[in-house]
Amino acid sequence: MLTDLTFVSKCGRPVDTRYRRIVTDLPVPESLVLLEKLRQFEPRSMAGQPPVVWHRAEGFQVEDAWGNRWIDWSSGVLIANAGHGRKEVADAIARQAAAHLLTTFSFANEPRAQLAARLVSILPDPLRKVFLYTTGSEAIECAIKMCRIWGVRAGGRAKHVIVSFDQAFHGRTLGALQAGGIPQAKEWVVNLDPGFVQVPFPDGFRVTDTDFSAFERALAQRGVDAANVAGVMLETFQGGSSAFAPVPYMRALREWTARHGALLVCDEIQAGFGRTGKLWGFEHYGIVPDLAVFGKGISSSLPLSAVAGRADVLDVNPPLSMTSSHAGNPVCCAAALAALSLILDENLVERAAQTGELLHRKLAAIAARFPQIGCIAGKGLVAGLACVRPHTTEPDSTLAFEIVRRAFAQGVLMFAPVGFGMATVKIAPPLVIPEDAIEESVGVLEEAIGQAVEAQ
Ligand SMILES: Cc1ncc(COP(=O)(O)O)c(C=O)c1O
Repeated sequence: MLTDLTFVSKCGRPVDTRYRRIVTDLPVPESLVLLEKLRQFEPRSMAGQPPVVWHRAEGFQVEDAWGNRWIDWSSGVLIANAGHGRKEVADAIARQAAAHLLTTFSFANEPRAQLAARLVSILPDPLRKVFLYTTGSEAIECAIKMCRIWGVRAGGRAKHVIVSFDQAFHGRTLGALQAGGIPQAKEWVVNLDPGFVQVPFPDGFRVTDTDFSAFERALAQRGVDAANVAGVMLETFQGGSSAFAPVPYMRALREWTARHGALLVCDEIQAGFGRTGKLWGFEHYGIVPDLAVFGKGISSSLPLSAVAGRADVLDVNPPLSMTSSHAGNPVCCAAALAALSLILDENLVERAAQTGELLHRKLAAIAARFPQIGCIAGKGLVAGLACVRPHTTEPDSTLAFEIVRRAFAQGVLMFAPVGFGMATVKIAPPLVIPEDAIEESVGVLEEAIGQAVEAQ
């Protein structure tokens, strides 16, 4: 039985508003058979999210098959930027599927050519070429590889160090994991590559020294010679907290990487495609990286990722040396082209900036009421509430989990804060969410925080 479910809630007073509907106990008793089946046949590491069986997802809402409907603050982990289940995306997928071309390996196909050209047309110089891949981690692996190849060519074998940041998350494959900044997640690797080095991320909350000199000091403390750095990689905002780095820090980092012949890599897997109120997250810093890595919101649907970069860097390898079986799949590319058109034609970037302003204003008012909310990070339609022991920066993951649980029971869906002392309540609705749904869902959040704090 599902005895370890922590999201159980009895449906006392049903919720029935314009946007939310919760009319059963949670998990829905009839859904237990399916949840049990997953528990039986999948590893338990797949569990942990609120126990809703997604039946239908449209726009900014998710429904189960038993009459419940949530305002979605997850975007399916920041994927559905253009909205869930958009007809234009579904039609593009159906058209491509009906055209009798479902896969081509690295043989040419029309949607892949169109997407590569379209992406380059909207990216700033010098990002003039793109590799298309399938998952975010895979694209990160490619970026790591490009940094090392480029570095070693320029400076010999010693120039292979990849610098990244504490608390960073770049994916779960071997290289991406080692570029990440969560030591506990890497324990299983045992023999970590010493060529991956992390430095503090200047979030201004837990790391208060946000001057760029801290970056250079941290490298010196770790015995890294700047001349040996092949690349510096960072999430444009940190996924775990939603924190951005200060603009002067990022400009200094851009200048430093150029000076030392290291590539600057922005992991835009969460930040790209309008999420932060700009098309690309790095625009907030007024810089352009040498490589930018995309995933998630690139298609608002099917698995697709990309590494965009300088042509001189991405062209360094010969034909056939960087293939991937599903890269540039025609159906996924058709979906991405349709999603991209929606984001641009419906001005979803500007909309995210506007709605995001409302969201952040409301969240600031909530944080002022509760000393258990240590800070609010993020821009546009991404926000992270740091749950802490009052008046400290010490994370309180029990509180974060309890807030998510209570909001879920009231019809606002988030992914659960998972793993390694993480204590952020993350808000990332599809960019199509209207302002009144933001107001409604923030009201639910406020009540959930109040109740969770009282229950402590
Ligand atoms: C910032 C960031 N980079 C990389 C990844 C890895 O992407 P994927 O899960 O598609 O491999 C993620 C996934 O959550 C992410 O948030």
